[in-house]
Amino acid sequence: MMDCTDRHCRSFHRVLTRRTLLYTEMVTTGALLHGDWRRFLAHEPTERPLALQLGGDDPAALAACAELAESLGFCEVNLNVGCPSDRVQAGRFGACLMREPRVVAEAVAAMRARVRIPVTVKHRLGVDEQEGFAPLVTFVDTVAAAGCEVFAVHARKAWLAGLSPKENREVPPLDYDLVYRLKAERPRLTIVLNGGVPSLAAAREHLRHVDGVMIGRAAYHEPWLLARADSTIFGEPSDPVADRVAAVEAFVPYVERQLATGQPLARIARHLVGLFHGEPRARRWRQILTEGARLRGAGVEVIADALAAVRAREGLAAHVGCRLAPARTSRMPKYVIEREIAGAGSLSPEELQEVSLRSLASLRELGPKIQWLHSFVTDDKIYCVYLAPDEDTVRRHAEMTGIPASRVSAVRRLLDPTNVA
Ligand SMILES: Cc1cc2nc3c(=O)[nH]c(=O)nc-3n(C[C@H](O)[C@H](O)[C@H](O)COP(=O)(O)O)c2cc1C
Repeated sequence: MMDCTDRHCRSFHRVLTRRTLLYTEMVTTGALLHGDWRRFLAHEPTERPLALQLGGDDPAALAACAELAESLGFCEVNLNVGCPSDRVQAGRFGACLMREPRVVAEAVAAMRARVRIPVTVKHRLGVDEQEGFAPLVTFVDTVAAAGCEVFAVHARKAWLAGLSPKENREVPPLDYDLVYRLKAERPRLTIVLNGGVPSLAAAREHLRHVDGVMIGRAAYHEPWLLARADSTIFGEPSDPVADRVAAVEAFVPYVERQLATGQPLARIARHLVGLFHGEPRARRWRQILTEGARLRGAGVEVIADALAAVRAREGLAAHVGCRLAPARTSRMPKYVIEREIAGAGSLSPEELQEVSLRSLASLRELGPKIQWLHSFVTDDKIYCVYLAPDEDTVRRHAEMTGIPASRVSAVRRLLDPTNVA
């Protein structure tokens, strides 16, 4: 979903579900072939299984992009034949291709000739005056003849003129029966139903008629629903995280890594705002996260604050071992400890782990008033970044761990490419 399922969102969703297939936002062939494809296709291996959705109509360009996707570890290439936006129509792709099944078939054939991963299509029931089963099955048969075996059907048609993309997701009525009939009459094809599915319970109902269910808005706005997908839908004995707090904790190391590369917190935190949807104090969570993440230099302490607010009502005491302990940390100063350690860069993973465990043990003893954010290991120094109420606490921590601190400096300002202007 454009402007939603970026890499941060997908990394978060992967904390909630291991088995669900995740999709990228639609990326046009033009963006990939004439723009910075590294940026558009960047993802963490942990996001997989991950499908790349392409927008375009030129078989050669689509084939080149599909090849790129396969080489980068995507497990599927999906062609968008559902987007009705003016911009997409101007490029003659998206939903308007419902009128041109042969063009889609040619595109699919070209992509299939170049890659081994599945080439799939996401489409509508029809567009404009196309009504009923006939245009739908003609489209699917034509594209299936070119080798497409998986069709994700948004179970409503699109009006190409007169409705905005948003209206085209709400105004044309959903017709699940047409999708069920498609599966019944083309049993060899894999038919995935999309559109208006609000929950896993509803998905299970649809799965009595079709092979798969694709959930868009509900999964984005209420991501916790994904957290039971592995057990409920895929029959796994357990799910990756026990509760929402555990989900946030599991995601924090990713957030820290991204912040260290200069990503602003707001870009990541926006995908978490719906996590506590329907829970007490969900509004506080949203508010603290949204407002806090906007501040310059905002760090994981904003997430800790928001978490503390939702947990306050439960009366939970400090969560032992949780790096997001419920403390008011957003105004806590940040410190960099410089540690001179000859040969630091050549320490083995086991040696680094041993040092880290020692540090964590002392942090537990000191309680939530000091938090370790991350460390940068160079050849002969380790720079560790902490949130702490004062320098003394940082020095005390250094003494307790027995890892010498050559220098402790308070961070006064954070500069990154996003806040220089
Ligand atoms: C903000 C937004 C962005 C979307 N972007 C895409 C997109 O890039 N590709 C696509 O195939 N569908 C896109 N969609 C449509 C959804 O994938 C889905 O087909 C539609 O919302 C209906 O499913 P749902 O009711 O489960 O959300 C988008 C929807 C929204 C709300």
